[in-house]
Amino acid sequence: MKTKLGNVLALYPMPTVLAGTMIQEKPTCITMAHVGILTHKHIMMGMNKTHYSNQGIAENRTFSINFPTRDMVKVTDYAGIVSGKNTDKSKLFTYIYGELETAPLIEECPLNMECRVTDILDYKTHDIFIGEVVQTYAREDILTNGKIDITKIKPLLFDMATLQYFDLGEPVARCWHVGKDYQP
Ligand SMILES: Cc1cc2nc3c(=O)[nH]c(=O)nc-3n(C[C@H](O)[C@H](O)[C@H](O)COP(=O)(O)O)c2cc1C
Repeated sequence: MKTKLGNVLALYPMPTVLAGTMIQEKPTCITMAHVGILTHKHIMMGMNKTHYSNQGIAENRTFSINFPTRDMVKVTDYAGIVSGKNTDKSKLFTYIYGELETAPLIEECPLNMECRVTDILDYKTHDIFIGEVVQTYAREDILTNGKIDITKIKPLLFDMATLQYFDLGEPVARCWHVGKDYQP
């Protein structure tokens, strides 16, 4: 027997990322967990309309996605507590720029994506920003044979139920491979 939880959103786990934007010619960022994959090139973010960052993303039509590591947990959480409305987050990190001038990348994060906004969905409480990945940057130490190595990123996984950051677990099996041995 299973317990009915009501319409609780239960999609686990979610990576915690820092989304970067520019407002009044200054870089700023927001901690985000409601981030998802749409296609091989498109991602989406569900950003509450009350936040400061929305304005920059809507105006510039660009944003960055940056992966903070375990050792960045305090500053990542801080960026999700304070708002750019009354706290300057332009000095929180070293911001650098890639191909897009208005999508500041966080140097301290080992993995970054620059995105161009393709669509903005106007939900009642949230702006849903859909972005196409323009360029991805990875620090050498998170690559294995030139490919992103999930075990080296040390991501912060967000748990909506307990409101805690979790570590990545162990690999279980190879995708599109282990199923070949299944006997229906
Ligand atoms: C772990 C974590 C995840 C968060 N995820 C989201 C999210 O997915 N969407 C959202 O609108 N706010 C999210 N927030 C809240 C914003 O990061 C927070 O309100 C922030 O202060 C807004 O900054 P801004 O006003 O400078 O844009 C999250 C906060 C934390 C700590």
